[in-house]
Amino acid sequence: MSINSTLLSAKGVNVSFGGLRALHDVYLDLHSNEVVGVIGPNGAGKTTLFNAICGLVTPDSGSFSFLGKDREWPQTNELAKLGIARTLQGVGLFPDLTVLENVMIGAQKFAKTGLISAGLGRNKSDEAELQQRAMTALERVYAGALADRRASTLAYPDTKRVAIARALVSEPKVLMLDEPAGGLGSQDIEWMNGLIRNLTSSMSVLIVEHHMDVVMSVCDRLYVLNFGEVISSGSADDVRRDPAVIAAYLGTGA
Ligand SMILES: Nc1ncnc2c1ncn2[C@@H]1O[C@H](COP(=O)(O)OP(=O)(O)OP(=O)(O)O)[C@@H](O)[C@H]1O
Ligand SMILES: [Mg+2]
Repeated sequence: MSINSTLLSAKGVNVSFGGLRALHDVYLDLHSNEVVGVIGPNGAGKTTLFNAICGLVTPDSGSFSFLGKDREWPQTNELAKLGIARTLQGVGLFPDLTVLENVMIGAQKFAKTGLISAGLGRNKSDEAELQQRAMTALERVYAGALADRRASTLAYPDTKRVAIARALVSEPKVLMLDEPAGGLGSQDIEWMNGLIRNLTSSMSVLIVEHHMDVVMSVCDRLYVLNFGEVISSGSADDVRRDPAVIAAYLGTGA
């Protein structure tokens, strides 16, 4: 796929929750090998857009295309097959499993015998292949040395890396991250941003983030939502200087 070809595209997205219009005519394109950020104040609709793309919310209207083909909005159970992986707000590792086992759970797509977590009916070569994939994913986030640790013993920033490795193990074309820097200090944020930039050699990354400073340096392009509408989009510099963006953020004190 050539640089800048459109991988994922959403247009005219409308979502209402009862009388509340959470998204109004929202659009977003994600090209190959880029990092795109969706930012905006509290309640702007960021998570709703994220959820629409990963099948947790069904839009009232709007079109979706993936790999250049128009299609229905994805269902959660087809994401891995399509090549879309996500981490959710909060981390959600299984505390009593090892790091490697937690990452292997992300590899369901490759299991010939169904649910990995059940551990039943897998043959030795499947198991070895899965372990290898999980290890490769961990190394990609510089966490290979943590493989045998119990998840409950990890420091918080390490749990975030492992959650990303778990998403990487299905070898996605699109990785979706909801607040990857949430709860991290400035040093860890820098390191997380470097890690995300490295991933673009083989995938595109879509980040949803409340604080715009955190993602400015890592994103190639940004979309700014406010009250469910795209109020600005473009490079970090374009967006930072846009009076509409400044007003939206000043208005909320975020
Ligand atoms: N399941 C739901 N039912 C009803 N209203 C909802 C639901 N999910 C979100 N909303 C409302 O839709 C609007 C957009 O919410 P959303 O969570 O997408 O915002 P956000 O930009 O992710 O905010 P935050 O920065 O706080 O995470 C808000 O007004 C929210 O209260
Ligand atoms: Mg949110």
